[in-house]
Amino acid sequence: MLMKETQANVLLDQIVDRLVQHPLVIANVAVWPAFAARLHRHFPQLLGELTLLYGQREDFPTFLEQLVSGAFCAWAERPIALRENDAVRESDPNWFQSEQMLGGVCYVDLHGGNLRGILAQIPYFKSLGLTYLHLMPLFRCPDGNSDGGYAVSNYREVNPALGTMQDLRLLAAALRQEGISLVLDFIFNHTSNEHVWAQRCLAGDPEYRDFYYLFPDRTLPDQYDRTLREIFPDQHAGGFSQLPDGRWVWSTFNTFQWDLNYSNPAVFKAMADEMLAIANIGVEFLRMDAVAFVWKRLGTDCENLPEAHTLIRAFSALVRIAAPSLLFKSEAIVHPDDVVKYISPQECQLSYNPLQMALLWNTLATREVNLLQQALEQRHALPAGTAWVNYVRSHDDIGWTFSDEDAAQFGIHGFDHRQFLNRYYVNRFPGSFARGVPFQDNPVTGDCRICGTSASLTGIEQGDPLAVSRILLLYSVVLSSGGIPLLYLGDEVGAVNDHGYKDDAAKADDSRWVHRAPYDTHGHASRNDLTTTAGQIYDGLRRMIAARKATPAFSGNALTGFRSGNPHVLGYQRGLPHQPMLVLANFSEHAQTVAAVVLSGQPAGARDLISGQTVPLHSDLKLAAYQVLWLDLRT
Ligand code: GLC
Ligand code: GLC
Repeated sequence: MLMKETQANVLLDQIVDRLVQHPLVIANVAVWPAFAARLHRHFPQLLGELTLLYGQREDFPTFLEQLVSGAFCAWAERPIALRENDAVRESDPNWFQSEQMLGGVCYVDLHGGNLRGILAQIPYFKSLGLTYLHLMPLFRCPDGNSDGGYAVSNYREVNPALGTMQDLRLLAAALRQEGISLVLDFIFNHTSNEHVWAQRCLAGDPEYRDFYYLFPDRTLPDQYDRTLREIFPDQHAGGFSQLPDGRWVWSTFNTFQWDLNYSNPAVFKAMADEMLAIANIGVEFLRMDAVAFVWKRLGTDCENLPEAHTLIRAFSALVRIAAPSLLFKSEAIVHPDDVVKYISPQECQLSYNPLQMALLWNTLATREVNLLQQALEQRHALPAGTAWVNYVRSHDDIGWTFSDEDAAQFGIHGFDHRQFLNRYYVNRFPGSFARGVPFQDNPVTGDCRICGTSASLTGIEQGDPLAVSRILLLYSVVLSSGGIPLLYLGDEVGAVNDHGYKDDAAKADDSRWVHRAPYDTHGHASRNDLTTTAGQIYDGLRRMIAARKATPAFSGNALTGFRSGNPHVLGYQRGLPHQPMLVLANFSEHAQTVAAVVLSGQPAGARDLISGQTVPLHSDLKLAAYQVLWLDLRT
């Protein structure tokens, strides 16, 4: 609901009239016109969103003016190279849909020691073909447990163990030079309890009193807890933690991660300034952390509320004005109906695809493609100008976020099936190839998620001869189904679980560390030796990456399901109608056949882009155990 255009224009004129007299604008008059043009274009959207959140407040006009003036400050400080990049990206808004895109993600300390170590790895990233590098949280955070840096104490300072702001800026520029976009988290649902805002709030500073949700007693926490889901039940029951002085603070995740109170516009303004400062480091994608939780309302589960979307769209409008090349990636690990609601050109242009991720693992366990085929056919399509980030593994646990209603269509009972998947992946199921561990096992609700590296979950840890083809199978879908494929670095050389975290008090009670393994020196040393597991995975992945990059049909997100007629063989088409491609993937450890009749209407033969072989399609088509074909139907 946008405010009437004329009203918006009047308001904007007033703001602009005052702003142009501001010494800051006078001192930066050369960059004003570009800013003013964007401001006029995107102000109605910004105003519309913010009116929904804060429009009733008396101080709303002042707040708006401060926000716009903060945005101009950020624009004035934006380095020239980034403003040039803004222009390049704006002239090609779908640039991130290219088949050239390939993402990688790693921890700075675990992968490179520090930021300079990451800099030194750029040649390797380039040789892999990365065009997108997500560095896990790297700002100042508490010593000891910081939830892997997801508790930020200062958004303007790099964790001293990893380097300096200057190192980070240099790294961003060096990556950009090599065609690799830097991706950082925007951890805006909460800060650490050591952030200066938290400290001032605790001390009763009136300016910060309403930055967080602090309660004198259990009255309100009890009311909220009635409808909240427990996210980290191992760390604390409910959504709140008690402070040493007896008060209670909202902490969805760990006790030291305090949720920000966005019903207070000062919080929006403060985080907007932090966001634009992060953008000016040279970040091209912000991973919007924990989006589902950012707005609260009593009597609800405080997840995915409409205001959460409004809030993100307001941040996004501000970005269009002051850092236009920046894009948002949503991290919503929730029901698939809710995941898609964050994805639009005005909100998050990208999103993790947790459904595809979870169903890849589901399909490996069941050998039945039903749920994954259904998801690709019914839940893959996205609005124009947006794309999925498809992935096999992340730094987080795997949660079974499929829809119970979807599963019921195949007679699968959601709760029971999740129990099966948990048992299967933590090796409590006879014959399982997986060696995962449970995460946040909740005996009260029966909920549980699982952890483990891709290698350990596919059987590499136990020397299963088929494990390499399982990993390659999973990545083949991620690399060919659309959007940006994201590689968890270490997967390419088969890094296995690392139980060493149990010896570190700061990590011991968070089993996600089992799959956040340190740089696999051994795997990397043997990655060019085809007689090793690392070498076979690396070689297989590199071939698929090369084939993806040579195939424009893999750009964009459009996908059409192809029913193989075999319950173990997944099928879909890309590049329709001009560059038709057919992907067939056998999720069983036995050879499978796709009957000739299913393939009638296709050419007599097609080239498989992975093996380079021509495959006849006029007779029954045999796929070996876990085999994948990327068939170019133009041949
Ligand atoms: C996100 C991160 C996760 C973290 C949580 C709290 O979900 O991926 O690692 O624990 O946010 O910030
Ligand atoms: C929950 C949250 C998700 C977070 C994860 C961390 O699944 O929904 O945001 O990444 O916990 O374990």
